[in-house]
Amino acid sequence: MSRFLSTLLVLGLILSFSASQLCSNALAKGRTLRQVATSKHFLIGSAGSIWKFTPDGSYQNTLSTQFNMLTPENELKWFATEPQQGKFDFYWGDKIVAFAQQNNMRIHGHTLVWFDSLPAWVKNGTFTRDELIAVMKNHIQTVVSHYKGKIQEWDVVNEAIEHHGNGLRDNIFLRVIGPEYIAMAFQFAHEADPDAVLFYNDFGTENWPIKSDFQYNLLKGLLKQGVPVNAVGLQMHEYSDNPIPVDRYRKELQRLGSLGLRVGVTEFDASSKEPQKNPLAMRLGVQAQTYANAVSACRAVSACKSFTIWGVNDKTTHQSDLAPVIFDANNQPKPAYTSVLRTVLRSK
Ligand code: G3I
Repeated sequence: MSRFLSTLLVLGLILSFSASQLCSNALAKGRTLRQVATSKHFLIGSAGSIWKFTPDGSYQNTLSTQFNMLTPENELKWFATEPQQGKFDFYWGDKIVAFAQQNNMRIHGHTLVWFDSLPAWVKNGTFTRDELIAVMKNHIQTVVSHYKGKIQEWDVVNEAIEHHGNGLRDNIFLRVIGPEYIAMAFQFAHEADPDAVLFYNDFGTENWPIKSDFQYNLLKGLLKQGVPVNAVGLQMHEYSDNPIPVDRYRKELQRLGSLGLRVGVTEFDASSKEPQKNPLAMRLGVQAQTYANAVSACRAVSACKSFTIWGVNDKTTHQSDLAPVIFDANNQPKPAYTSVLRTVLRSK
């Protein structure tokens, strides 16, 4: 494409986004994303970390004014809450939970049982099967009981399926307890807080057929056994070079909803695999489309009640080099913010 034409294209994109930004702001009547989502009884969340709060309050302000749900990014993981066996530490978890409560935000607890971010005493432990069941039960029930009435929903088991969906993922719980560890984890959490909404959470399950099918069958089997799994979280860490079509997202969300589960998008972000390849305006445009597709699909499926973005701004998100979220490094809204706001605004 000639230089003149590509300049025209980029100019067109910039103009179209600023026009759509103006249009969306007018439509939203100056309301924030949180206000628009709340008016639709829709949960729009962000991962947030007390360790990322800024002295000028800009991080915290974006988090509390633009989102009505918060997932503590790391403060509730096993390494943080039980760093030594039987010695629980809720200092940081209590701080981020208090922040969410002070700002009237729903809290999505993350996560109770996961192969990653385990303290060494668990990861390298030499437990018998009964010992590890007792360790897992004590961890789950101590943490869930501590936050009962404060945390409304939990990622009970995270990423238990092998990366590409070929069976269950190797971890110490599978090796020592067996596949029943999954059902046990949900049972323990339910006993500790019968009112909490209990999620199974994983990635790649919105788009990779083998992994999506494995997850669907895993959940169907758990439900058949009467295991108290109430919901499924699709993390949706996407690359925005080729946006997944709305229909593809929607079909999977609907299939999971047909099991009677609540569905949540739990960790959405969208970045370019080759940021140097295309001009910034084009990358921002494609990213905005990726966000719009995913939000559209969620809003089209009645079982999909929440959409969480994995990070407040591009500076503090876990992929800060790829600028994957909807606020830039200076907490300014990007075209993806406008497309999320517009999509929620226009949804039923
Ligand atoms: O400071 C702690 C140290 O005290 C502790 O012993 C150690 C244990 O791993 O963690 C140290 O800090 C870092 C932690 O973030 C808190 O900042 C870890 O080094 C670092 O690995 C950890 O990264 C997080 C990662 O999960 C692993 O837990 C990222 O911030 C977080 O964005 C990322 O989020 C995950 C979701 O939980 C699950 N789905 C995928 C998603 C992205 O990877």
